[in-house]
Amino acid sequence: MTEQCGMDSRPTPGDLERAEQDRMITDSLSRIKRKILVMSGKGGVGKSTVAAYLALLLSRKGSPVGLMDVDLHGPSIPHLLDIRGGLDMREEEKVVKPFAFSEKLGVVSLEMLLGDRDAAVIWRGPLKISAIRQFISDIEWGTLDFLIVDSPPGTGDEPLTVAQTIPDAEALIVTTPQEISLADVRKSINFCRQVHMKMVGLVENMSGFVCPHCGDTIDLFGSGGGEKTAREMGIPFLGAIPADSRMVELGDQGKLDRLAEQSAWEINRAYGEIVEKILNS
Ligand SMILES: Nc1ncnc2c1ncn2[C@@H]1O[C@H](COP(=O)(O)OP(=O)(O)OP(=O)(O)O)[C@@H](O)[C@H]1O
Ligand SMILES: [Mg+2]
Repeated sequence: MTEQCGMDSRPTPGDLERAEQDRMITDSLSRIKRKILVMSGKGGVGKSTVAAYLALLLSRKGSPVGLMDVDLHGPSIPHLLDIRGGLDMREEEKVVKPFAFSEKLGVVSLEMLLGDRDAAVIWRGPLKISAIRQFISDIEWGTLDFLIVDSPPGTGDEPLTVAQTIPDAEALIVTTPQEISLADVRKSINFCRQVHMKMVGLVENMSGFVCPHCGDTIDLFGSGGGEKTAREMGIPFLGAIPADSRMVELGDQGKLDRLAEQSAWEINRAYGEIVEKILNS
């Protein structure tokens, strides 16, 4: 006589729902060529700016691009691109499309669902995981060359969920030149190795400051540390972006697209090189 263990091994409605969501995630991701997670060890090094600007520059070169903001506590992408509209999440709308910033750039951020820019959102881990999975399963991203993902600093729930949900995600790590930031970069690199996430490379942001008066470069936070760390850690160095007060000004005004029109500016030359390296990697 067979013994009954008393446990029912049939799938629960929750299991079936999750399997269906897994299927939708796989389906959505299969239409996106490259998924790039922008991350950093330290806060405030310019991740969101780099994510938004790279997405903008890649889309201006003709690639269809998606920009997904998974910084659920401090979403800043809508601010940088001056997006005020929300997403249409009505029940009768079966397909939720990203906000069309332009013909080639679609954007999704939690802020677009919340309505209130200044709302403080309290998220526990499981809720974050489920929100990020829904950003992929329930949004009709369409066929994309790139999905750029902006994450909060560190190696918490958000980058971990992205790494687990998008098996072929590649990390782009942003740092500033000073040692205190570089120490945290090494943690980010080790995190990527632990979760087997490929790394596109390292970007040194705010590397040198070009004085608007005399034109001389002042190394505010030092420079060259990013390249050295990338070499030591065996990952590609994508380039150094100078600190430029016009980036702050135009970012604050949500006018990064106006910055992109100034092809002669040093900051755009630096970004241009990074874009080329990404396209060729
Ligand atoms: N190359 C640059 N030159 C000058 N300022 C910059 C540059 N890149 C980013 N900044 C400025 O640095 C500030 C922080 O940038 P941002 O919000 O992108 O950082 P973050 O790493 O996403 O921060 P958080 O960790 O809070 O998410 C912003 O005011 C932004 O305009
Ligand atoms: Mg940010």
